[in-house]
Amino acid sequence: MSDKLQFVVDSALSPLDITIRSQRQTKVYRTLPDTCFVTIHEMQSFDTDPPGNPEPSERSLTFPVCFATALPPGTCRRFALPNGEELAIYNVNGEYYATDNFCPHRGAALSDGAVTGHIVECSWHGWRFDVRTGECLTVTEKLRTYEVMVSEGMLLVEVS
Ligand code: FES
Repeated sequence: MSDKLQFVVDSALSPLDITIRSQRQTKVYRTLPDTCFVTIHEMQSFDTDPPGNPEPSERSLTFPVCFATALPPGTCRRFALPNGEELAIYNVNGEYYATDNFCPHRGAALSDGAVTGHIVECSWHGWRFDVRTGECLTVTEKLRTYEVMVSEGMLLVEVS
């Protein structure tokens, strides 16, 4: 059985609070003023597998990031996962990409770097990365990349 998700902005709480409704339950994600980041919890309750099915050995989790309108073309934002890892989410002319946020050189936040087309340049020492593939154009290094989807105006990132 599919479980359709619905994203709702509850202006009575805050324009940045997000309510996610499914057939089984409703969860509210509250945000701090003047930020688009939300508090993230694993979405285990949205599992649509019938009881008794074997668990896959490696699960992917989907996290709501922010409304797509909060990430204009040519910009990048950091996004913190519940386990403390961080992603950088990019909007390149309406196409969305995600990579690890920390530069493999000395750990600078790539979300603080300059985005030009599909290339992000680290703000500390200038290493350049293609956000589509994670390939470093400066040295032989690679960032992990993640799939970004848009659902009802909301950016979702899939992490496995
Ligand atoms: S920390 Fe990114 S290039 Fe040095």
